[in-house]
Amino acid sequence: MAEPKKLFIKTYGCQMNVYDSERMAEALGTQGYVMTDTAEAADMILLNTCHIREKASEKVYSELGRLKPLKDLNPDLKIGIAGCVAQAEGEEIMRRAPVVDLVVGPQSYHRLPAMEAQVRAGQKALDTEFPAEDKFEHLPRRPLPNRAPTAFLTVQEGCDKFCAFCVVPYTRGAEVSRPVDRILSEARDLAERGVREITLLGQNVNAYHGAAQDGAWTLARLIRDLARIDGLARIRFTTSHPNDMDDDLIAAHGDCDKLMPYLHLPVQSGSDRILKAMNRKHTAADYLRLIDRLRAARPDILLSGDFIVGFPGETDADFEATLDLVRAVGYGQAYSFKYSARPGTPAAERPGVAPDVADARLQQLQALLTEQQRATQAGMVGREVKVLFEKPGRMAGQMVGKSEYLHAVHVTSDAVAIGDIARVRILASGPNSLAGEVLGLV
Ligand code: 5AD
Ligand code: SF4
Repeated sequence: MAEPKKLFIKTYGCQMNVYDSERMAEALGTQGYVMTDTAEAADMILLNTCHIREKASEKVYSELGRLKPLKDLNPDLKIGIAGCVAQAEGEEIMRRAPVVDLVVGPQSYHRLPAMEAQVRAGQKALDTEFPAEDKFEHLPRRPLPNRAPTAFLTVQEGCDKFCAFCVVPYTRGAEVSRPVDRILSEARDLAERGVREITLLGQNVNAYHGAAQDGAWTLARLIRDLARIDGLARIRFTTSHPNDMDDDLIAAHGDCDKLMPYLHLPVQSGSDRILKAMNRKHTAADYLRLIDRLRAARPDILLSGDFIVGFPGETDADFEATLDLVRAVGYGQAYSFKYSARPGTPAAERPGVAPDVADARLQQLQALLTEQQRATQAGMVGREVKVLFEKPGRMAGQMVGKSEYLHAVHVTSDAVAIGDIARVRILASGPNSLAGEVLGLV
């Protein structure tokens, strides 16, 4: 029997790319590909790229430089670019980087098998259309032999919000929600194969409005239905826009046991002037009110966010307003970024903040967020949490999993296996994880 062809995928950026990489691997599986962990062993290398900030995009070009010599060693090796850089700059990459054989945009993954055949025949293949057909309908049903206990499930893609700094509406296109029945059947499949926690993904996931027989469903309604699936113990969703947190979704945090008490809700800035310039369409006070309502529904909810510093026009006073908002919310964890001008976005036309000022602000904000993260973790010591175990730890007898609040928790115990959920008392807090003792299985 001929050796199967080997596929290596390197994934950059967000969780949706992680999900997309799995689906691309499955699509190429139909062409006889199996996965390999090393680029050197591969017959096909796909870079699943991110365009969100300049640094993320640049990684593609440096990686292509590193991969080029592999083509001399293996003349049959094909190299493809997928993801948001493919969408935004695919044609240019094809022109400028002869090592690239294939460029596939995020909405065209279902065409990969045909494109693979084309490159094997010695041609180049490029597809960055937003095709009329739904790629999910044309991707193979998920084979998934034995799954890890956690999985991503894309329910919505694209964004109509047009924040002034963001490329997503251009690279991922307009908001599209997958139909309810497809999501439910994919979730049932995952649960049957041992998945206990599903994270629903979308660039603007809480704007979900998927078609069902009785009209369009909201994300809250979808979550309530997913919660009825046996075996599925936990549901999360990311990423959300504050303006799409409707009443039912807030209520679900209080009354849906399977919905985990953790919410990533980016605000980007605490200054109303900057929020307006960013086209966020909400104020800092709106956001704080929303946080109060979420905490009223679920007092222990842990909040996460995204922040941009150095957005064009940001003054010291604007930045202070961001620090004030962070102090008012008290984040369990958050991400902060230096503004990066992205070609084609409205903000890219405006003069930026001096780089050293932006650097200093980023440091100051990150210090505050790190302090809040440490304090939140330290506050878990002595508490009892429920941990879903995902993998063995580095030390013998150790197991690692995640609490409801998405904290990594280590235990030393032979009483728990991967996929188990156990009650755990937290004993200590390290820089990035917690340590605890198992009290019993749930
Ligand atoms: N510059 C810096 N950060 C950005 N983000 C999106 N676009 C940019 C940009 N041009 C950040 C936002 C968003 C997260 C995914 O990335 O904070 O929530
Ligand atoms: Fe980008 Fe999110 Fe704004 Fe959409 S809502 S434009 S994905 S930052």
